[in-house]
Amino acid sequence: MRRVAAILAISAIVLAGCEQNMDAQPKYSAYTYAPAFRGGALREPPPGSVARDDPARDLAAMNKPPVTTALLDRGRDRFGIFCSPCHGGGGDGNGIIVQRGMPRPTSYHDERLRTADDQHFFDVISNGYGAMYSYAARVPPRDRWAIVAYIRALQLSRHASIDDVPSEQRAKLSESR
Ligand code: HEC
Repeated sequence: MRRVAAILAISAIVLAGCEQNMDAQPKYSAYTYAPAFRGGALREPPPGSVARDDPARDLAAMNKPPVTTALLDRGRDRFGIFCSPCHGGGGDGNGIIVQRGMPRPTSYHDERLRTADDQHFFDVISNGYGAMYSYAARVPPRDRWAIVAYIRALQLSRHASIDDVPSEQRAKLSESR
């Protein structure tokens, strides 16, 4: 009986020791002086980090910027990087990744997507859609709106009539024919 009591007492001491080790392990807390890092233990977030709650980002998501040539240029640039590998340069859904086996997305020139509102495109970029993953971490909200504007231009490019061309530009069209 004594022996059992002694074993129990020893195990209690050993186990308590374990717990203390876990509690008092060497570690830095956020504002501790840390010789290994210049400026303390609290590190700068790496460039491009996205805060979970970033009011400036939420504001940009809610405010669709007006369409300008600069916005369209930016949209074309970002579309070429992030979307055309699957959706193709013209938005038909036949990009190089699709040619290598990715499921083929609906063409942007499909009636359903031509009549979908801008918010649908913004939301697909933000949240993903079916087999397509989210681009929220790679494409900031303003660039998403720029891409949406460029997709609208792509769609219009196949359904524009001569009335859409400003009259002073029409002469140029017949020149280039
Ligand atoms: C890796 C390939 C890939 C990339 C890159 C990609 N998508 Fe997609 N996208 C898809 C696929 C696949 C679908 C169809 C998903 C499904 O129906 O399950 C799709 C669907 C869509 C749709 C149609 C949603 C609907 O209502 O049918 C839109 C709009 C879209 N993508 C926009 C974009 C934009 C904008 C970008 C660039 C920021 C982009 N995608 C980048 C693969 C991709």
